[in-house]
Amino acid sequence: MLKMMGRLCFAHKTALAPMVRVGTLPMRLLALDYGADIVYCEVRMDIYTHTCHISVHLNTVDFVAPDERVMFRTCSKEKGRVVFQMGTADPERALVVAKLVENDVAAVDVNMGCPKEYSTKGGMGSALLSDPEKIEAILSTLVNGISKPVTCKIRILSTLEDTVNLVKRIEKTGVAAIAVHGRMKEERPRHPVHCDYIQAVAESVSIPVIANGGSSDIVKTFEDIEKFRAAAGASSVMLARAAMWNPSIFRQQGALSVEEVMEDYIRYVSDTTAAYFIRSVSLLCMSVFCMSVLCSEVFGMTDFYNKTKAELEARKAALQTNGDQ
Ligand code: FNR
Repeated sequence: MLKMMGRLCFAHKTALAPMVRVGTLPMRLLALDYGADIVYCEVRMDIYTHTCHISVHLNTVDFVAPDERVMFRTCSKEKGRVVFQMGTADPERALVVAKLVENDVAAVDVNMGCPKEYSTKGGMGSALLSDPEKIEAILSTLVNGISKPVTCKIRILSTLEDTVNLVKRIEKTGVAAIAVHGRMKEERPRHPVHCDYIQAVAESVSIPVIANGGSSDIVKTFEDIEKFRAAAGASSVMLARAAMWNPSIFRQQGALSVEEVMEDYIRYVSDTTAAYFIRSVSLLCMSVFCMSVLCSEVFGMTDFYNKTKAELEARKAALQTNGDQ
């Protein structure tokens, strides 16, 4: 019972879907500001993340690979609502990654839908869908090994019966929710989303089902989110491309213009990357230059630019005083 307290609940929610190169920290914070309840990070492969060390900065917590690449960046503002998605085909390595991130995230998700070769050739992503024993081993190991909720994101199988049988097996592992992208692994965004499959899944399990795949066919406005949820008979909805095109789709009062969204986005990029830039004075100078072009000339955000520039220059002076290049 104690384990359940304060845990992220996946029922009746809207979520920003995991998106490689899109679902970075500034985008996730924007989606939360606009009204998303839950945000997923871009998929991170266990092979690259299991050896990360944690680096705490002024505004962020970074998970840094041995080659110094930041594999996952998060901050306190999203702590109770960010889901870390991993690509894995190895229960033990998955557990190492999950334990590494569990104190800084709200839940851990396993990607079981990616059809790209870089996932499937290692037995990850949609390759897992044809290996239910592996799925059970990974999810059970995670559920038993960490204190945060564990979820997975699947694609549908080629028959309704197989899809329902698989999700029933998944539910038995103790996962907190299942996100269902209503397309088969061979299908592309141009193919219609199979709401009937998502509905059958939702009817066959008692955990929350998060409907996904509605961006091309159904979801163009905030109101359409509810239409998609109802059509799929699901508890929750997850949006990828509709939110990538304009994350203010989560705004109950209506979407903002792309120009307004970009201003908000630049503010978050500045807030969440300054700490990284100040590690090097030369990089810091570059960031000030890029911001001046973007803010002053493209977006007319001169006041914001001047204020941020003054802050960054103060940090630069402090760095130079300390002799840290
Ligand atoms: C994706 N998708 C995806 N899925 C996933 O589980 N992990 C990931 O890292 C990614 N990366 C990703 C990047 C980009 C640019 C796109 C467009 C999509 C798939 C995504 O989460 C979702 O399942 C599909 O896009 C269908 O949902 P929509 O777009 O119809 O809302």
